Amino acid sequence: MAYNLLKGKRGIIFGALDENSIAWKTAEKVHEEGGSFVLTNAPIAMRMGSINQLAEKTNAKVIPADATNVEDLEKLIDEAQEILGGKLDFVLHSIGMSINVRKGRKYTDQNYDWTHKGLDVSAMSFHKLMQTLHKKDAMNEWGSIVALTYMAAQRVFPDYNDMADNKAFLESIARSFGYFYGKDKKVRVNTISQSPTPTTAGKGVKGFDGFIAYAEKMSPLGNATADECADYTLTLFSDLTKKVTMQNLFHDGGFSNVGVSQEVMESFQ
Ligand SMILES: NC(=O)c1ccc[n+]([C@@H]2O[C@H](COP(=O)([O-])OP(=O)(O)OC[C@H]3O[C@@H](n4cnc5c(N)ncnc54)[C@H](O)[C@@H]3O)[C@@H](O)[C@H]2O)c1
Repeated sequence: MAYNLLKGKRGIIFGALDENSIAWKTAEKVHEEGGSFVLTNAPIAMRMGSINQLAEKTNAKVIPADATNVEDLEKLIDEAQEILGGKLDFVLHSIGMSINVRKGRKYTDQNYDWTHKGLDVSAMSFHKLMQTLHKKDAMNEWGSIVALTYMAAQRVFPDYNDMADNKAFLESIARSFGYFYGKDKKVRVNTISQSPTPTTAGKGVKGFDGFIAYAEKMSPLGNATADECADYTLTLFSDLTKKVTMQNLFHDGGFSNVGVSQEVMESFQ
């Protein structure tokens, strides 16, 4: 259902790899709500994924950019404003990657070059993105910036590995930058802490099938899907949430506040 929530708004969407990606669903819904945007992803992901199909469907241009590379970000932000015809109202950071996770290295046996790379891609890129937007004064007042995170930033999920630390850093950057961006430009910055979701990044975590099923049984409303995450993101991009900033917002069917559910208890009785 479309409400025209984002009519006339312009933005950049990072992280649509394929149709399962949270960013993919978000792009489709932002388009339905009347927003226009540039899509971006790392050059290598453009070859692996199917972002051009999404671009066609949503009438968007694609600009490759490695989110860890400030020059790429500068070029992207300049070009996006040119293409869209003005400053930006929304930005989605939907990026995450850990080589330790991918290569099956344990938390207690990390390859620190990989740890560094994962931190840069998954967390520091968010600072680089906002610092570049801020320096270029590329956001309109009352604009909204959202990044995606996971509850392993607060509680231990052993197989989430060094991504847990990356997410803790990411959430902290949202708070700290949110302060300055709010003061200077009235721009809000939030993270959405999403349920386990079957995407390329999600399924790459060892034991994913186990913890998505566990979360489903623990959450009174069930796990939140990628589509539902996109809906929630739209509200944060809209003018209906102007004073929400510097928050980590759980979008998880209630999981984060449940100690134990009836279903989980029954499996032990
Ligand atoms: N899937 C889950 O269970 C889950 C749960 C909570 C939060 N999240 C978060 O949601 C976000 C999106 O992930 P997803 O689940 O849609 O998976 P996904 O694999 O579809 O998306 C991850 C994206 O990050 C991009 N990326 C990686 N390195 C990059 C770089 N250097 N520069 C630019 N882009 C780069 C990838 O190309 C890909 O498009 C991530 O931050 C992820 O941690 C996912």
